Amino acid sequence: MKLTVLGATGPTGQIFTAMALDAGHDVTVLVRNPAKLQFIRVGSKKLNVVTGDATDAKAVSSVVDGAEVVVSCLGSHPGGPCPMLSIAFRHILAAAARQARPPRCVLMTTIGVGGTSFHVKCLLGAFVAGWKVIHDYDKADALVRAEHGDVPYVLVRPAHLTDGAGTDKYKLSLSSKGCYHFAMTISRTDVAKFLLRAVCTPDFDNEAVQLF
Ligand SMILES: NC(=O)c1ccc[n+]([C@@H]2O[C@H](COP(=O)([O-])OP(=O)(O)OC[C@H]3O[C@@H](n4cnc5c(N)ncnc54)[C@H](OP(=O)(O)O)[C@@H]3O)[C@@H](O)[C@H]2O)c1
Repeated sequence: MKLTVLGATGPTGQIFTAMALDAGHDVTVLVRNPAKLQFIRVGSKKLNVVTGDATDAKAVSSVVDGAEVVVSCLGSHPGGPCPMLSIAFRHILAAAARQARPPRCVLMTTIGVGGTSFHVKCLLGAFVAGWKVIHDYDKADALVRAEHGDVPYVLVRPAHLTDGAGTDKYKLSLSSKGCYHFAMTISRTDVAKFLLRAVCTPDFDNEAVQLF
């Protein structure tokens, strides 16, 4: 399959991109700094690297055109440029909608947004990510649900991310009304496995999936 990955240099994006290449997919990545891609086996013929910023509509369009599935592992850090995610998601959806056959879009946000947990959202806003970032994530998550049109999407909302090996024992819920709390965790490896699952099947299309 032809995949496009945004956020491929982040911790989850690196794991996912390596996994997708290992699974035989053709992967195009949009990255700000290609030097951060050392984790990928040098010379992978299935990897196409495009340098650019996810808030640049032209750059996003150039990597979404021709993709069958677009995956976002983009993330903001406190104090970084904000808004970012809502701008990037808007560009992804717009570029996808222009395709004769819109690519499916598998997009990471976080538990706490989309009405999943007021408490987690407050803790993330006040102590972890900062309110600007959380409001941007909430906006990005909402605009995908409200404005995806004919573009199939999967919103992936993981709990607190950890490093290390995956367990394959993660849980998922399609309900935003669960009892989600701050102590819930999931490893980035398990998130990457779920992203690949969502890439390969339409089972989660037009759903927001809580992972923990
Ligand atoms: N940490 C947690 O516990 C937690 C919990 C739930 C959800 N999440 C969310 O899950 C996602 C993945 O998290 P993570 O910790 O694996 O990754 P991360 O550290 O948030 O990675 C951010 C990625 O986004 C890229 N990026 C940021 N702004 C960009 C821009 N303007 N243009 C292009 N690329 C840009 C970064 O590129 P550079 O390498 O160039 O900076 C990097 O590849 C994030 O959205 C995160 O907020 C995190």
